[in-house]
Amino acid sequence: TTISPFANEPFVDFKLEENRQAMEAAIAKAKASLNAEYPLRIGAEKIFTEDKIKSVNPGNLDEVVGYVSKANRELAEKAMNVALETFETWKKVPAAERAGYLFKAAKLMRDRKHEFSATMILESGKNYAEADADTAEAIDFLEFYGREMLRLSNINETMPLTKVAGEDNKLRYIPLGVGIVIPPWNFPLAICVGMTAAAIVSGNTVLLKPASTTPVIAHKFVELMEEVGLPPGVINYIPGSGAEVGDYLTGHPKTRFVSFTGSKEVGLHISRLAAETAPGQIWIKRLVAEMGGKDGIVVDETADLDAAAQAIVASAFGFQGQKCSAGSRAFIVESVYDAVVEKVATLTKQLEIGLPELNYAAGPVIDQSSYRKILDYIEIGKEEGRLIAGGSKADGNGYYIQPTVFADVDGKARIMQEEIFGPVLAIGKAKDWREAIALYNDTEFGLTGSFFSKEEARIEEALETMHCGNLYVNRKCTGALVGAHPFGGFNMSGTDSKAGGHDYLLLFTQAKAVSVKE
Ligand code: SER
Repeated sequence: TTISPFANEPFVDFKLEENRQAMEAAIAKAKASLNAEYPLRIGAEKIFTEDKIKSVNPGNLDEVVGYVSKANRELAEKAMNVALETFETWKKVPAAERAGYLFKAAKLMRDRKHEFSATMILESGKNYAEADADTAEAIDFLEFYGREMLRLSNINETMPLTKVAGEDNKLRYIPLGVGIVIPPWNFPLAICVGMTAAAIVSGNTVLLKPASTTPVIAHKFVELMEEVGLPPGVINYIPGSGAEVGDYLTGHPKTRFVSFTGSKEVGLHISRLAAETAPGQIWIKRLVAEMGGKDGIVVDETADLDAAAQAIVASAFGFQGQKCSAGSRAFIVESVYDAVVEKVATLTKQLEIGLPELNYAAGPVIDQSSYRKILDYIEIGKEEGRLIAGGSKADGNGYYIQPTVFADVDGKARIMQEEIFGPVLAIGKAKDWREAIALYNDTEFGLTGSFFSKEEARIEEALETMHCGNLYVNRKCTGALVGAHPFGGFNMSGTDSKAGGHDYLLLFTQAKAVSVKE
């Protein structure tokens, strides 16, 4: 069978009545499963534990999306043993067959996309477009990594090794072993699916520890993989605490790799733990970590100021600023500074706040600890800058915070340097575009950035000098598309991996060069 070239899953237009109604129906259906109980999945076993994670709707704290079983060390060890055993058979399954599971899953997810999006609307507080983009990206990862595995398995035809007389030389990309997959809650489907799919299609088996705020949507994905016939034990679903289950498995001698997406603090902690060699361990663990960002947008005086202001607001406040790619900073040159600041304030004040299921532009943040932390940063911001929009919590039975903008913020201010991961934007003034770029670069992170200008020469220079993994010109700095914008950043933003790019599966494989004398 021939596989069509990869193309991104289109987004749904919710301005169309029929699409809006379809999503409303999916939300109503998802509500019928509120309060459901979910098991761990270890091999073919479904294990319900006494101790449960309560997954609450952050936009309506009276709603429990699900009670999810929780692994402890003993269950984590059991899952490790099942994954080790399954690896021995899964690694021998031909690449095309492994890819086939991903393609089947992509098809089913596409058929039921609103169902997946609706669960995220309830569990993570995304509005329709944000949830739909998340589901579309998950479908993309399945389609893309399936094709990538086929490409890698065919590498000797497309990129042959140097010919040596009398020898047949080939490169084989073989899997690593058992991996620990620790995805984030902010793209609770897309990144969970992407990290897991890449690992398993490469021939590894995984222990999937979903984020504790979004375990239900992760369970939905695991169920889907079961439905497409993925052999039991390839993905083992073990929600649990980072300190108990995550640390134990990261330090485990049989863990071959850890694939993590989340905060800088947790990423560095995992990096330290994974660097230790446990007794009996015979490899250096591979770590793929995608961490935070303090991303920003630079605007010069030639830029389309309306487009720039719209991009700043979209980048800062999409999903309440809870993206590692969020544009939480903007640097604007003096001569257009007041104009852009005013436009940003006006657009920000237009964002209506309310329940995700009613599709408000601005919804809740993920949980109580985020809520408190963001509100603390807003108080810090009041000392460090001039408040021009928002500035406090918002009404509602959830973790609602007003989209907040501070102007005249110094480049060294805490709200310019520290990742807040919420709806808080800091704007700084620069004397010219080069100074604005220098301010942009003054960060320990290096994930995404945007440059707004109409001057070709400046754009050329900005492409060279703005130091980040995903740099955009004259558009927002969020919304990377699989295949088109391989995603991942520099410095404290992570291990420079590129999700949705042609290099990604190499992180989950090792290359064996085989040379046969003829
Ligand atoms: N890939 C997402 C974006 O580009 C962030 O994880 O917004």
